[in-house]
Amino acid sequence: MSDPIVLGIETSCDETGVGIVQGNTLLSDALASSVEQHARFGGVVPEVASRAHVEAMLPTIELALERAKLKITDVDAFAVTSGPGLAGALVVGVAAAKSLALSLDKPIYGVNHLSAHVAVDQLENGPIPQGALALLVSGGHSSILKVDDLTKPIQSLGSTMDDAAGEAFDKVARLLGLPFPGGPWIDKAAKTGNPEAIKFPQGFTNPEDQKDHAYDFSFSGVKTAVLRWIQNHQLTNQDLPVNDIAASFQKAVVEVLVKKTFKAAKDFGIDTVIIGGGVAANSQLRALANSEGEKHNLRIRIPRPGLCTDNGAMVAALGSELISKNVKPSNLEFAVDPSQPIELTII
Ligand code: KG4
Ligand code: ZN
Repeated sequence: MSDPIVLGIETSCDETGVGIVQGNTLLSDALASSVEQHARFGGVVPEVASRAHVEAMLPTIELALERAKLKITDVDAFAVTSGPGLAGALVVGVAAAKSLALSLDKPIYGVNHLSAHVAVDQLENGPIPQGALALLVSGGHSSILKVDDLTKPIQSLGSTMDDAAGEAFDKVARLLGLPFPGGPWIDKAAKTGNPEAIKFPQGFTNPEDQKDHAYDFSFSGVKTAVLRWIQNHQLTNQDLPVNDIAASFQKAVVEVLVKKTFKAAKDFGIDTVIIGGGVAANSQLRALANSEGEKHNLRIRIPRPGLCTDNGAMVAALGSELISKNVKPSNLEFAVDPSQPIELTII
């Protein structure tokens, strides 16, 4: 019998994502983003995001079905992000998924957005081996996770104590006068900048941090250091070396992410590292993880950039994985959980 067709819906932040997956095969992925409506505010405005999800939901579902050459009645199960994320935004996706599941009499899986960022890797790199490590770096989270089985609770080894990595990219971009979201812009500016121009701090890398914070991150220090550097520079000079600052900041963040992840892999005897979340789209993070992985004999798995940032395929991928492991669907009465913990894969 062929694997069930799973349609996944993602609305935790500003992207309305709908993906269709069968087994580990991606059949289609459609995305509508409200990012341009938030840009002038320098961050996502929850009410604006919710309204945009309502408007984009049906056209995005239709586009995903059209691209997969399927009808809605061909779908065997629905998966939807139940959390973590913006409450009002999550409600839109969950309401849509529930209506479809109820009217078509199909099962529904309310799943964790963070686990889905890890699960999506299966679509490109095949089944995740037992005992892998995952570095999850997005706009809201930065964690090192131990993943034994995506259907079991994921264990967090460490996470950020303040800003998330993506948040630091976005805030520093703002200081540099670059558009929101800043990650891709810093990535681009850094390509023509000198990463050695300025030495920015890397949080929790002092010897005394090794006891309690070996796998934890802190990005507020580097952000403040960039601010101070800009303020000092502007006392005597009006021209800001944007590309050098971007490259130096990016180097500080990317190096600490790779260093701590590789230390965790070594300490726990793990040979496979998955990197996911929006910041995993960063070209320098991908390059450094891959080159260091080769040196240290670690298998590095990173999905293509379009599957690192928020999308519907990741939700469908996790739904498909849960079905393949015979996990029971969610009860149709489930509510969204804006602070759904990483340990809770399915609600
Ligand atoms: O996973 P994601 O799409 O949404 C959340 O779940 O938060 O991650 C969004 C974050 C933003 O902070 C964005 O600036 C960052 O990912 N990002 C990047 C890049 N592309 C997206 N950061 C660095 N380099 C990139 N190329
Ligand atoms: Zn995300």
